[in-house]
Amino acid sequence: MKTRARKGIFITFEGTEGAGKSTLIRNVAAQLESSGRLKERRIRLTREPGGSPIAERIRNVILEEPVDPMAELFLYEAARAEHVVRTIRPALDAGDIVLCDRFTDSALAYQAHARGLPWKKVKLLNGIATAGISPELTVLLDIDPAVGLARAQDRNRFEEEGVEFQKRVRQGFLKARSESPSRWMTIRVGSKPPEELSASVTREILKRFGKRFDRG
Ligand code: TMP
Repeated sequence: MKTRARKGIFITFEGTEGAGKSTLIRNVAAQLESSGRLKERRIRLTREPGGSPIAERIRNVILEEPVDPMAELFLYEAARAEHVVRTIRPALDAGDIVLCDRFTDSALAYQAHARGLPWKKVKLLNGIATAGISPELTVLLDIDPAVGLARAQDRNRFEEEGVEFQKRVRQGFLKARSESPSRWMTIRVGSKPPEELSASVTREILKRFGKRFDRG
């Protein structure tokens, strides 16, 4: 008898520079692993731009030096298409829990809202690049852009553009969130220690998807 393939769970993490996404994702992965709730499911950590060999090479090109905004958008979408086909889709088909550092909402926040490319065009290209794959939950790490910039360690050329740019990026994320509020969970980065932030994300994941884990 053919068993129905179990579906993976796709969760993305978004935010302006220096919000602490990488630490949060690592902590959430560790807490999910130690929760004892995952059964046979594996956790897969990945990131954009990047997440597959070619996409990582495109990442280096994009982050190295300024590119025309429209060309930049296409580079991000090219990397995304490759990432979806090589990494995300196979992981979801295998039933994995995919935790992805940035995804399509970053293109809306950075290329559309902050850079000024038309929102609808970016959305259209996102749809083409992802072939319909979209996250079931998006965690927004929301930090005061000035505080985030001061914290950012590996300064890339987006960080060099300063706080006004980061403020526009933040507004872009809020706009994306307003278009599909139930998909989003917002974590305000302030005085709470990182483990507390990640614990609330882990709780939310177990609340939303726990029943699916229980089914194996
Ligand atoms: P990272 O610093 O979080 O690794 O991300 C690299 C940079 O790429 C970051 O400044 C945000 C930017 N970015 C976009 O502008 N558009 C996108 O679609 C993605 C995924 C990232």
